Amino acid sequence: MGQYSKHHFVEYYIDAVDSPHLLGPTASDLVKYGQKDTILAGFHTDLNCLTIHGRSRYPGLNIWARNTGKRIPVRFPPIGRYLLVQAGKQIEHLTGGLIKAGFHEVVVNEATLQVIHYRNLSCK
Ligand SMILES: [Fe+2]
Repeated sequence: MGQYSKHHFVEYYIDAVDSPHLLGPTASDLVKYGQKDTILAGFHTDLNCLTIHGRSRYPGLNIWARNTGKRIPVRFPPIGRYLLVQAGKQIEHLTGGLIKAGFHEVVVNEATLQVIHYRNLSCK
């Protein structure tokens, strides 16, 4: 664990789980950064091989289609187990560019605000 002790890790984990803050995409603090159009992760590709996104508690992830260049808000079907698998830069390099890294961003949008509002109401 490098410079951190096991105790430090456990404390950090408990703080993250028990935190009263709403954690959104990229584990952002939506109490602090939950205003519409706030960029939580700017337009980018990941450096790793694969990024696997599960269902998020909050919408706000957008991807870009390589064939159209259009931005697409990520939505999972309401029922079922799904993953969004996105290529990163390492896959792009390993395949000589055959598979391109996926562009994406995370931005607080109207759908994010609706979920924040719904969760705030249901917590009271
Ligand atoms: Fe990313």
